[in-house]
Amino acid sequence: MFNPRSGWRAESGNGCVPISEVLRYHLAKPFAKRVRGIPCKPGDYLTLQAKIVLLPGDGIGPEVIRQARRVLEVVASQFGHTFEFSEHIIGGIAIDQTGEALPDATTAACRASDAILLGAVGGPKWDDPNAKTRPEAGLLKIRKELGLFANLRPIVTFEELLDSSPLKREIIEGTDILFFRELTGGLYFGPSGLEELPDGQQRAFSTAVYTTSEVERIVRMAAHAALKRRNKLTMVDKANVLEASRLWRRVSARIMQEEFPTISYDVVLVDSMAMHLLSRPTSFDVVVTSNMFGDILTDEASMLPGSLGMLPSASLGSSGPGLYEPIHGSAPDIAGKGIANPLATILAAAMLLRHSLGLEKEAASVEAAVKRVLAAGYRTADLVRRGESSLGTLAITDHVLQSMIG
Ligand SMILES: NC(=O)c1ccc[n+]([C@@H]2O[C@H](COP(=O)([O-])OP(=O)(O)OC[C@H]3O[C@@H](n4cnc5c(N)ncnc54)[C@H](O)[C@@H]3O)[C@@H](O)[C@H]2O)c1
Repeated sequence: MFNPRSGWRAESGNGCVPISEVLRYHLAKPFAKRVRGIPCKPGDYLTLQAKIVLLPGDGIGPEVIRQARRVLEVVASQFGHTFEFSEHIIGGIAIDQTGEALPDATTAACRASDAILLGAVGGPKWDDPNAKTRPEAGLLKIRKELGLFANLRPIVTFEELLDSSPLKREIIEGTDILFFRELTGGLYFGPSGLEELPDGQQRAFSTAVYTTSEVERIVRMAAHAALKRRNKLTMVDKANVLEASRLWRRVSARIMQEEFPTISYDVVLVDSMAMHLLSRPTSFDVVVTSNMFGDILTDEASMLPGSLGMLPSASLGSSGPGLYEPIHGSAPDIAGKGIANPLATILAAAMLLRHSLGLEKEAASVEAAVKRVLAAGYRTADLVRRGESSLGTLAITDHVLQSMIG
């Protein structure tokens, strides 16, 4: 669904992985005359050429992006791909340099890319509520500009970190949920305002607005993901109260019945879902919901695996580049200390390989390396329990790289 524009190429003798070896990964065949539609012959080298834009942002953003780039560079050399990286500014650093949280040059580079990897934006320096613009404006704008209407957030517990979670091991063990949060509509983008009333009070309003097609496209995307997973989709709404939720309920029921009859589909009210996530998280597979409900539920769910430092996310549109990022912020309290956990960003890079470049094997190899590093007992400061020693940002990435190289 999300194929890179830069494309595959067969070349002779460029020192990358020979085509026959690449085929073992991609096609599980000893040799073929055409690979992904590209004519090739023995001795050729198959390379995926992809343009990746890096947006390090603020705080620990540059520290974790540097490590994710190292991982992508190893993937490129191991699997014979060519990733062309370029770095651009967003957030607070962009406000300092240009007065804009998302300069036009950054938008243009993102548009011309195959995928975007973002660190984080924001920090106390830019927190003035009266400022003309704020770092977060850069994030909202890039999502709008690129039509990134779906935010995917996998919530997976790692066996090795079960005891780091505030919840009991027996409740969270085996949790593997993929959230689809609608990202460009609803309460955060509907008409809003503040007015003065004659009696001296103020009246404020925000409006949840959705159209049929906005609901259709995200429900379809979530359903396609469910088909590749455990064939179960849960739609979360507040249809007992909100008109916009009643539209969600009608539209998703129709799409599921007409287009995805084999998927086990259910609906849950958002207030119940908030409880179920803490009492029976393993009963969910793919969950789809509106912008604000998704915002709150995914933050709640992010507590299940135990640390913010482990969770990646992806924002996708129906075409064009996807945007990948860790869910944590710029962590100004630890910025510059070399102790930030880079694993969420490395896992976001794995999502980028899977969803934007179609490189499933490569994505899985990164995820497996992260798991092995945790299984071997290596931890960053945010993951250790009392008395355990921890590794810094660079050192834990070194272990991931070693594990990938084997
Ligand atoms: N997508 C984004 O860019 C994004 C998301 C959330 C917050 N923010 C911004 O980040 C700034 C800080 O926000 P916050 O403190 O509420 O949230 P935060 O996620 O930055 O930090 C919360 C806590 O988690 C820790 N933490 C976060 N990521 C970590 C990592 N990779 N390794 C180790 N520890 C980590 C921090 O040290 C902090 O104690 C604010 O300006 C906020 O607006 C940005």
